Amino acid sequence: MGFVPTMGALHEGHISLIERSRKDNSITVCSLFVNPVQFNDPRDFEKYPVTIEQDIYMLESAGCDVLFLPGLNEIYPGGTGALEKYELGYLETILEGRYRPGHFQGVCRVMRRLLAVTAPDTLYLGQKDYQQCMVIKKLIGDYFTGIKTIVCPIIREPDGLAMSSRNRRLSAEERKKAPAIYSALCTIKENLRKEKLPSLQASAIKHLAEQGFKVDYIEIADAATLQPVSNWDGKQKLVVLAAAFLNEIRLIDNLLLNDN
Ligand code: PAJ
Repeated sequence: MGFVPTMGALHEGHISLIERSRKDNSITVCSLFVNPVQFNDPRDFEKYPVTIEQDIYMLESAGCDVLFLPGLNEIYPGGTGALEKYELGYLETILEGRYRPGHFQGVCRVMRRLLAVTAPDTLYLGQKDYQQCMVIKKLIGDYFTGIKTIVCPIIREPDGLAMSSRNRRLSAEERKKAPAIYSALCTIKENLRKEKLPSLQASAIKHLAEQGFKVDYIEIADAATLQPVSNWDGKQKLVVLAAAFLNEIRLIDNLLLNDN
């Protein structure tokens, strides 16, 4: 059995996980639960798009076998007041962990419950949430050693923008600007062996800021540990990760820099 956890407002990125699970398994289960405890910003939670009828239609069309659509009380029967804490170490102090305090605690809380209920053989996650994949792999290592994890590639719009449920909230003008994040990551990849990493990083941040983004971070890091890298030996596997706001909407993306 393959399991694809989601928060709904489904798009082709989610569906690619369903398709991969269907290839590998005889049963594919999808969960749809907008997990309140992983939103560090309450406004982001309030505005999170909900499109359940359309999601069900997309899941049926994709051949998903089971949809788990729990209510809040089913996941958090004792309420969300005093929940357990997870030791995530370094992973929680950087990037999304640093800019979204408590976010990964919330992800672990819901994933622990979803994995306990669904008990899959294999879990399907998207590389789009690169750091989340590492956090959930740690959770699985600590509590669910039998479950295998497969990370699937980022699905993008034709102009490069990584698909995201939050893209629906972009105005027409913001939507036009949004692909600049991916372009900035591609520019770093293209110039990887031509310039020093800190200078590539600084130009990318400056370029996005000039276009009206509020950049949380653009960081070049070791692809396996997420430790920042400034002096590169030319061999170490690297990933560049970005998070930036266009007005209210926070977008994230990442790109493996030397995976081929
Ligand atoms: P959500 O943002 O709905 O994403 C569900 C899954 O789809 C995640 O594994 C995510 O990485 C993947 N995904 C999102 N956009 C993608 C894209 N453009 N290409 C490929 N995969 C993509 O991530 C969450 O929900 C939640 O944190 C969750 C894990 C469900 C826990 O609440």
